[in-house]
Amino acid sequence: MISNTWGEKMRSLIYFMSSRYENKEQANQRYCNAERVVIWESLRRGYVSEQEVVTFKSLLGARLNEDSAILEVACGSGRYTPFLDTPHYIGLDISPVMISQARLNYPTKQFMQGDAFNMAFSQRFDIVFCCRFIHHYSKPQIEQFFTITNTALKDGGFFVFDSTNYLSLSTIFKTLFQFDVHNKQPAEILHMCHRTGFRVVSKKHYFFLPSFIYPFIPTSFAKDLDETLSPLLPARSFWCVQKMKESNV
Ligand SMILES: C[S@@+](CC[C@H](N)C(=O)[O-])C[C@H]1O[C@@H](n2cnc3c(N)ncnc32)[C@H](O)[C@@H]1O
Repeated sequence: MISNTWGEKMRSLIYFMSSRYENKEQANQRYCNAERVVIWESLRRGYVSEQEVVTFKSLLGARLNEDSAILEVACGSGRYTPFLDTPHYIGLDISPVMISQARLNYPTKQFMQGDAFNMAFSQRFDIVFCCRFIHHYSKPQIEQFFTITNTALKDGGFFVFDSTNYLSLSTIFKTLFQFDVHNKQPAEILHMCHRTGFRVVSKKHYFFLPSFIYPFIPTSFAKDLDETLSPLLPARSFWCVQKMKESNV
């Protein structure tokens, strides 16, 4: 599964460590820089634990079928596009470079460049999916994003996403390297969901190392580590929430 060379792994480390920025604009530039996107692209398969993919697949489950209209927000270069394989898939990302790369990777799929905080679609979706996005933004921004997502969904539609918790090594990295992670406790996410018209259908909490470490360690060891430490240190949460009928909001 992990096929990156040591040179690529070291570039990943440098890429991660040099990600210092103070605000949303700088955070977004990270993914609009063509050189960085090339690095992201070369690493993306080895960049995460398999646990992430398995967990998202189980949360989507039978909710995803070939009739589902699905919007992936912050789709990047399309890492999750193959898992969200319906004819009615749209991937949205703010970075034109990411979108160009996604189109190269999956020429038959529909991708759009756009801002998650300013989405306006003529259609409504059965599912909105979003991975590794909300940790870039503060709580008020995320609450705004949840409200916009609620509007983009059909009544009863599902929103599947992940969040990074305070009990995470990224809290240490944030302090040491001013990394742009906004960690949030599951209870905070829960309140935000309720305030923005969602009910929680399913949630899972797991231990995860910071992403850049995974290319350096064998997959089987990473899997054992994640499983052993999950009950002690639930660093990331995965959510499937459902839009309540508009009259109930
Ligand atoms: C960590 S990457 C994750 C990419 C992809 N979801 C994945 O897991 O491989 C974060 C992505 O969020 C995108 N992004 C950041 N701010 C955004 C915004 N306001 N609207 C849409 N996309 C945004 C970036 O361009 C980048 O592609």
